Amino acid sequence: MITGNPDLIRFIRAELEKQGPQSFAWFMQQALYHPEHGYYSSGRCVIGREGDYFTNVSVGPLFGQLLAAQFAQMWERLGKMNNFVIVEQGAHHGQFARDVLDFIQKRVPEFFDALRYLIVEPFPILQELQDHTLKAFQRKLGWCSSMQPFKGVHFSNELLDAMPVRLVSDGVEKFVALDGDRFVFVERHVDEAIFNQAALQCIDDVAANLQRGYVIAIDYGLSEEKSHDCAQVRARHRNLDSPFDRIGEADITMNVDWRSIVERAQANGLRIAGLTDQHHFLTGLICRFANDDLGQSLLTDSPKTKRELQTLLHPEMLGRAFQVLALAKNVGPETNPLAGFKFAREPRLT
Ligand SMILES: C[S@@+](CC[C@H](N)C(=O)[O-])C[C@H]1O[C@@H](n2cnc3c(N)ncnc32)[C@H](O)[C@@H]1O
Repeated sequence: MITGNPDLIRFIRAELEKQGPQSFAWFMQQALYHPEHGYYSSGRCVIGREGDYFTNVSVGPLFGQLLAAQFAQMWERLGKMNNFVIVEQGAHHGQFARDVLDFIQKRVPEFFDALRYLIVEPFPILQELQDHTLKAFQRKLGWCSSMQPFKGVHFSNELLDAMPVRLVSDGVEKFVALDGDRFVFVERHVDEAIFNQAALQCIDDVAANLQRGYVIAIDYGLSEEKSHDCAQVRARHRNLDSPFDRIGEADITMNVDWRSIVERAQANGLRIAGLTDQHHFLTGLICRFANDDLGQSLLTDSPKTKRELQTLLHPEMLGRAFQVLALAKNVGPETNPLAGFKFAREPRLT
């Protein structure tokens, strides 16, 4: 049974009738990013308790505050440059940007004066929502629909896993086809298939536009996955069995293949500045900043902050499922790793 947004289902059916079977990447593009009816592009997606799923950002402001402390260290390492730009891609409703800017304004005013915050946002409805969330920081903000040259840091949380993928395993690819009224998968042999072209293209774009500085990508993924023939579908905090359930009303994701991302980044002249799981990354940040003013203001004794910290760190909650990749360009050799990578553990990749 196909369920979901009737207009979107009608559109997909008509295209399949006209064009024949289509790759899953095409289907995912329509389900998430169709200009009018896509789950994200229509503004329908709600993240957090009242929505479809949690992210690090929706856990509370602590995540943004900890990352702000990492950005501050990067700014110091780049000689406290003026016009340091924090570029965020996949900013959704702007909560992360607000948590970061709020913290930096209060705790590191010198950094606040030197920075600009640029959101890469292709969808007008999301830009409107971000504009609303970030009213207090208008002076610091800018938007663009595609990447522009910058010096500073490019940040994303759960961006790469939301990029369209082909479903391929052992030379067989699953295509979406029509069977009467139903959408079904049909399999075809393919010679060479790059399953995550959109994510790799994103890395190309970041590398081409980053003139000097860092990239931080946080996502859930694997370093050694051979088969990419199944995507996760989530709605109302439940995993759905099929991507043909609740089309345009559910999130579709694929584990990030860190190996191919890292290889592509290196081929583009980026250096790996660190790769570890979120538990070790946040522990490194907490340890580094715990004894200075920045840390004191971060780690208050409030029960809410403690709960947030536990959710972000605990290996059975978000601590192990998520990994953090940092890349660097034109930064020069660094004697010590960035604070978040002090306890880095991912030997197969690093
Ligand atoms: C899973 S959500 C994560 C949202 C937010 N970063 C968080 O952690 O709560 C993925 C977000 O990436 C956005 N996105 C997908 N492709 C994008 C692209 N090429 N450029 C900018 N944003 C994109 C989607 O619109 C969506 O808001």
